[in-house]
Amino acid sequence: MGSKYREISSRTAIDYSSAIQLLESLPVFLSGDEHKERRKSMAIVYAQTRKLQEKAIDQVVEEVAQSIEHRHGAFDLIDELSTPLWTALRNVICTESEEVKDLANELPDLFFPRLSPRRRQSINNKLTSILKSGTDQLLDQLALLVLGVRPFSASLALSIHKIARDNDGKRLCDIAFPTSFPDSALTYVDRISLRDTVIDGCPFSAFSRIRCTTFDSSYTDEINSKQLYGIGSHTCPGRPISVYTWSKLSNILSQSQKTIHPSALSVEHREPFTIPTKCIVSFQ
Ligand code: HEM
Repeated sequence: MGSKYREISSRTAIDYSSAIQLLESLPVFLSGDEHKERRKSMAIVYAQTRKLQEKAIDQVVEEVAQSIEHRHGAFDLIDELSTPLWTALRNVICTESEEVKDLANELPDLFFPRLSPRRRQSINNKLTSILKSGTDQLLDQLALLVLGVRPFSASLALSIHKIARDNDGKRLCDIAFPTSFPDSALTYVDRISLRDTVIDGCPFSAFSRIRCTTFDSSYTDEINSKQLYGIGSHTCPGRPISVYTWSKLSNILSQSQKTIHPSALSVEHREPFTIPTKCIVSFQ
């Protein structure tokens, strides 16, 4: 991804140097020893706040449950559920300023192939000042936030909406909540084959791009939950807190007598993510 930005930069003379610096530090685009090193330092940052992450999630889940108990009508799954949960989590993981944390919400747009040059440049410029003044752990914290924000928050909203569609009018306490997210904002990861190889009988030539599906509604729940966080050396380091969050949330919701009903849902495909732009259910 960094090399793509380099190429555009040399063709158009637009400065993307800060975007390149960030992209080239993200574990998803690294391999071999470089990847191992980044995983190690990211794991230290993640582990430092592990207990605080759970505490922060517990508190928001409790508040969400209270708010549902008092609701007779529409509930916005983005504003009232996924954003507060993500904000609580990122505030614990990242010790940088609000400006840095807010920018991290926008940074995944750098992956989006159809992003306008103006927007790419604006993100690059904001990143420049942040990279200059950041602490030693900035890149590790940013990597967690940039790669965690959309899968975590969008999957939460999409999953509860899916439960509402599958259980329209049911009491929450009568719903068999799945043990893992029933929908995902990230359904594939791309890999480049390092050599000529054969996987499950399919030949792949060196340097070809392989799309690996991590979630599909036509797969069984068992397969989806197994692959949701990826497989192999790049497997998601945010898995423990995501599993924890889903389990806390589904557990508390399943104790409620309220009925759930699906309402408006619209999504935007900002590859590789599916982002809900409107995601409403109602509770009666
Ligand atoms: C429901 C929530 C989440 C889902 C479905 C999800 C899914 C994924 C998937 C499919 C991958 C790619 C694995 C691969 O390439 O094999 C990944 C990687 C990653 N995720 Fe998550 N994720 C979630 C939450 C989080 C959270 C909360 C964080 C951070 C706090 C996070 C941070 C990362 C990072 C840093 C990587 C890159 C790992 C690497 O390349 O070595 N994710 N995630």
